[in-house]
Amino acid sequence: MQIVAFNSSPRDNETSKTELILQKFLAGARRAGASTETIYLRRYQIKDCLGCFSCWLKDLGRCVQKDDMAELLFQHYLKAEVAVLATPIYYMTMNARMKAFIDRTLPLMDPLAEVGPEGGHPYRYEKVPKVAALSVCAFWDQSMFQPLSLNMKMIFGRDLIAEIYRHSSEALTVPELRPQVDQVLAAVAQAGEELVRDGQIKEETMAALTQELAPASIMQEMSRQYWAQAMELAGNK
Ligand SMILES: Cc1cc2nc3c(=O)[nH]c(=O)nc-3n(C[C@H](O)[C@H](O)[C@H](O)COP(=O)(O)O)c2cc1C
Repeated sequence: MQIVAFNSSPRDNETSKTELILQKFLAGARRAGASTETIYLRRYQIKDCLGCFSCWLKDLGRCVQKDDMAELLFQHYLKAEVAVLATPIYYMTMNARMKAFIDRTLPLMDPLAEVGPEGGHPYRYEKVPKVAALSVCAFWDQSMFQPLSLNMKMIFGRDLIAEIYRHSSEALTVPELRPQVDQVLAAVAQAGEELVRDGQIKEETMAALTQELAPASIMQEMSRQYWAQAMELAGNK
């Protein structure tokens, strides 16, 4: 299985928690025999979709714009058997870079093909990737991912084969939480392995992956202390 991951975090790979979870997931997928590649969207120029429908009306299936999305990333997306769309949560959903990337996949759709009962245009390309959505958020409640999950389900329908969502992302590097974090990271890798090997992720793996690191009241206090300390370091008291 050929997996291409698209990471839309603007942060460097040492800081990004999307990257931390993504690379564990891909390591597990490789254990089951998949080949993997990661593309960092921050390194590429992805202009906003112009809404001109040129890809439906003139140059069918191709974008009129000249940038990295039209000339490089679209081809990378098409060649994947599974595309992992990895985004941090910004204001309850995918960040703007991931949204721009998805908007620019409009050339995939064929407006003349028969529309299904729920609406949405079928693909003009014979082979399009299955999609695994992956995300992280700083707050400690899995409900934070509801809007993203709904979005992903509605955009990709049956092509969405997995959703890997990890809350409390900024606490994943706190030394005191190491034992729980190790369990979470092992479960993320396990999820990657199961998806490639079995085509689905076990319920117990998802439970381990989404487990709380500490009770909400402790997470709340840790967050407050973290920001107070960070402000002090930044010269604000
Ligand atoms: C503009 C912005 C909006 C954010 N919105 C949310 C949010 O709605 N809920 C949440 O739990 N975390 C939110 N976060 C925190 C990020 O999801 C969190 O820091 C995450 O680890 C970032 O991923 P990254 O480290 O891969 O960049 C936000 C961060 C930023 C910068």
